Amino acid sequence: MTENFKWVMGIESSCDETAVAILKDGTTLAANLVSSQIPIHKIYGGVVPEIASRQHMETINLLIDEAAREAGITLQDLDGIVVAKGPGLVGALLVGVSTAKALAYGLGIPLLGINHMEGHIYANWLAHGPIEFPALGLIVSGGHTALMLLEDYGCYRLLGQTRDDAAGEAFDKVARAMKLGYPGGPVIEQLAAQGDPKAFDLPRAWLKDHPWEFSFSGLKTAVLNLINQAAMRGETIDSKDMAASFQSCVVEVLTEKTMAAAEAFKVTRILMAGGVSANKGLQESLGRRCREAGYTLYYPSPALCTDNAAMIAAAGYHRLRQGHRSGWDLNAHPSLGLEEM
Ligand code: KG4
Ligand code: ZN
Repeated sequence: MTENFKWVMGIESSCDETAVAILKDGTTLAANLVSSQIPIHKIYGGVVPEIASRQHMETINLLIDEAAREAGITLQDLDGIVVAKGPGLVGALLVGVSTAKALAYGLGIPLLGINHMEGHIYANWLAHGPIEFPALGLIVSGGHTALMLLEDYGCYRLLGQTRDDAAGEAFDKVARAMKLGYPGGPVIEQLAAQGDPKAFDLPRAWLKDHPWEFSFSGLKTAVLNLINQAAMRGETIDSKDMAASFQSCVVEVLTEKTMAAAEAFKVTRILMAGGVSANKGLQESLGRRCREAGYTLYYPSPALCTDNAAMIAAAGYHRLRQGHRSGWDLNAHPSLGLEEM
């Protein structure tokens, strides 16, 4: 079944960004609005779920109207609504899901709830146009770190994921311990560029018997221990050197495991998805290895790496065209896994 979905609205509210986008013909971004709550949550050193839900409620309707205005359409022109149904904070997700349901019901158009992580993958379609399958996906966000074999639209195989902390979570926890604020990724990246990556000898979890799985909690604990031991001696640790040493460990593990998986599964296209794929150190390291191996590496522009609704609309567009629909009983799924994609 292939219907035309000329105007598709995407809605994203799974964590601390309220976002609404309108996609034209599956490829052209007619509007892409993100209202970030980061300045509000920064004060608390991390996302406060109750505050996130309230902020989403205050913002979402304004963004919907503004997106339609920017796209030069009225809501009646929309052909479908796609919303991130999980994973994420339940109260935050419910704002997006309820709004999408009300809007689709009122307009009498198809509704579809999708996995937020599938959205991250399709950010690459917005940045580069359609990517040929099969491809290897390196999913690296605040909540996930995984390798996935992408065989076709809607046809994915989870090769392995993290056993404990996600890569982004490790960036955030290390930044918090170093009193660098939230989110940790961008500030650690900035400091790392000025530090010595060999200054501290930190552990890399290769998990040789499970080559497609990851573990970052040992690395995080090693950093926290060094910071605490220095504090007990009345010393401080050079934050540039620590940021560089920590980041180089994460980047090395992500790079080597991704290259090994590409070789094992004989894929020559690799795409990165999620907030951590904005990291320049990771882009350069994996980019260099891909060039040497003759592979093509894709990653979205920085604004499309982190949470946005354009990626939700892009992923949903393909599923809508395949005939996927959600019922009016669509609910939020806070712990929706990559297996359920
Ligand atoms: O994909 P995302 O926006 O939200 C989730 O789905 O989790 O990812 C957010 C995560 C945070 O942990 C943040 O610290 C990390 O992505 N991040 C980065 C960078 N920008 C964001 N990590 C490393 N380097 C960056 N430049
Ligand atoms: Zn995300």
